Amino acid sequence: MVTAAAIIPAAGSGSRMGLDHPKQYHFLAGAPILIHTIRVFVASPCIDNIVVVVPADRVESTSQLLAEYGLAEGSVLVTAGGRRRQDSVRAGLDLLDTGVDIVLVHDGARPLVTVDLIERCYRAAAEHGAAIAAVPVKDTLKKGGSDKRILHTVEREGLWQAQTPQAARLSLLQRAYELVGERDVTDEASLLELAGTEVWLVEGTEVNIKITRPDDLVIAEQIMKKSDVPSLLVGHGYDAHRFAPKRKLVLGGVTIPFAMGLAGHSDADVLTHALCDAILGAMGAGDIGLHFPDSEKQFKNIYSIELLQDVVGKAREKGMELSNADVTLVCQEPKLAPFIAEMRTILSEACSLSEERMNVKATTTEKMGFTGRMEGISCHAVVLLSKREEKRG
Ligand code: CTP
Ligand code: MG
Repeated sequence: MVTAAAIIPAAGSGSRMGLDHPKQYHFLAGAPILIHTIRVFVASPCIDNIVVVVPADRVESTSQLLAEYGLAEGSVLVTAGGRRRQDSVRAGLDLLDTGVDIVLVHDGARPLVTVDLIERCYRAAAEHGAAIAAVPVKDTLKKGGSDKRILHTVEREGLWQAQTPQAARLSLLQRAYELVGERDVTDEASLLELAGTEVWLVEGTEVNIKITRPDDLVIAEQIMKKSDVPSLLVGHGYDAHRFAPKRKLVLGGVTIPFAMGLAGHSDADVLTHALCDAILGAMGAGDIGLHFPDSEKQFKNIYSIELLQDVVGKAREKGMELSNADVTLVCQEPKLAPFIAEMRTILSEACSLSEERMNVKATTTEKMGFTGRMEGISCHAVVLLSKREEKRG
């Protein structure tokens, strides 16, 4: 099996950013830039080991930071870098196991890399020996003099902007470092080219920017916010129960004084059942009968609000939050208006939602149909769930 390692150089001082701390530790969309970067590599199935190379005086604090963000376990090593980027990468190479076949070098300051791009660079290096992410140059290029006068236009055809990941067989990269590692270069491909190794281009994305100047922070923050937009999931539920004598009438968790109740295995709270079904529907998780079968004793006469709490908990486990709910009871009698406020309180508490996001209304059907004939009560519910997507890639 091919083993792949990532080296993440993050030992620079970030002088062009002009902050009072190295840019890779700057907070962006809720976490340090370097943490965003490492997370994508941790999430990449093709990467087995990760070496993060940081300024010598930050090795310890970076290890602590990784622990804080739950990234310390497993295969992430932290080591001290050198004066130039290439010295830092070399320090990372020195830590790699001899069993590593492919190594991917990726700037700590490129947090918008994706699992997909990592995978494509890895595959291209496995096929060709060495490959880097790059984007075709799209603007017209000018060669300018020191006085900012244009000297000439540079032919754009065939020009690419190099990015990272830069991937190569470990043996090829080690050889390149031995042959030409003292020459000043700004990326691994330059070393490989100087060592006579062919390097291939993998088309990356314009989004994979290296955070270099203050403007880049604004752009990266905007992109991250956009990709953090939750996806919205709609759900619908419907239920109906028949009137029965000698039963309590429970609707939305409220016991309502009436001559009859509703028949059912549980407390027959038709409203709460419709709401549970709507939430399960939005989750793509079937219906209430699947989760709480009426063949099971434990659900006999159960207060259905407990089922609702359980369903909301299941949604939360899957990263989904109830955003709002709208419920319509179809009921000829009794008159429900006096109980609606209490229902909203109980339901919104069970769902950890504010009351204005938990709407309950009731209607008659003007004596038409089964509800109009007082055979039972039915209820419709619609909900919106929001789901936070996993990190980019
Ligand atoms: N890097 C490194 N060791 C160095 C210099 C740079 O590991 N001696 C890392 C940076 O931390 C960054 C990546 O290499 O993640 C790309 O370098 P660059 O964007 O140039 O970062 P800095 O050198 O920190 O920034 P500047 O050039 O503005 O000082
Ligand atoms: Mg630099």
